[in-house]
Amino acid sequence: MYPLEPRAGEIVRLAAQGAWLTAETEALLSAIGVGPGWHCLDLACGLGDVTRLMAARAGATGRVVGLDLERRFLDHAGACAAGSVAYLQGDACRTGLPEASFDLVHGRFLFTGGERFAALLAEAIRLVRPGGVVALQEQDLACMACFPPHPAFARLKALLGAGLEQSGTGRSVARRLFGMLRQAELQDVRYRPFLVGCQAGDPQADWLPDTVDSLRGPLLRAGLTSCAVLDETMAACRTHLADPGTTATIYAVVQVWGRKGGGEAASAD
Ligand SMILES: C[S@@+](CC[C@H](N)C(=O)[O-])C[C@H]1O[C@@H](n2cnc3c(N)ncnc32)[C@H](O)[C@@H]1O
Repeated sequence: MYPLEPRAGEIVRLAAQGAWLTAETEALLSAIGVGPGWHCLDLACGLGDVTRLMAARAGATGRVVGLDLERRFLDHAGACAAGSVAYLQGDACRTGLPEASFDLVHGRFLFTGGERFAALLAEAIRLVRPGGVVALQEQDLACMACFPPHPAFARLKALLGAGLEQSGTGRSVARRLFGMLRQAELQDVRYRPFLVGCQAGDPQADWLPDTVDSLRGPLLRAGLTSCAVLDETMAACRTHLADPGTTATIYAVVQVWGRKGGGEAASAD
């Protein structure tokens, strides 16, 4: 299950993140060559931000499916849908969809680790047709830092790591992604990393405090902090990030994609 609390602000948080990742996601879809007529699947589509970008490229002759576990996200995605998009509720590791039925199977920020990730990759490869593309994007939080440094920022970074661990999410697979796709049956595996950072006033500037707030329940239940300390630390961090002299690197995103052997590379209509 999604590790973050089902709080009112979660859809706003995901939508804001989707918006600031649009340009780099478009760059990924361009590098893959997604175009008219493509059949695409967005695994763990969340609010459907990437699903919509795929649909805009695939056009009326294409077919795009967004799949997610969470009904509340799919309802939001469906309300924003345009063009030929279908949203399905299901487990990305066991979709039940027919094999070899997509030109592109994509997943961004699946928050899965270890064996779950291996199962997900196997399912993505099963679903893509020979010659089609599997593309994955994952966050790498190791580069998170602010300048000048601040103890509240460092404390929230540590709590984020502990909270993700506590909620069973496991460590990020971002750094292992390239090797995992190479070890799978994928060919021509490509690697495209980029960095998300911020200065005061950017929408990204609240990502760390807001994401830690989403993990408030698991953090409190595990005794890793108290409400009062968390509120105080978040306020101090937000004050520092709102200072016009502060900059921060938030996370790196690793985009990796490769082609399934045994068929023609996909082309637009
Ligand atoms: C951080 S959100 C990312 C959403 C979207 N891919 C994006 O980049 O905006 C993680 C998503 O993964 C979904 N998710 C987690 N595990 C899943 C699974 N096993 N099957 C389907 N969806 C899953 C969650 O419901 C959530 O929507």
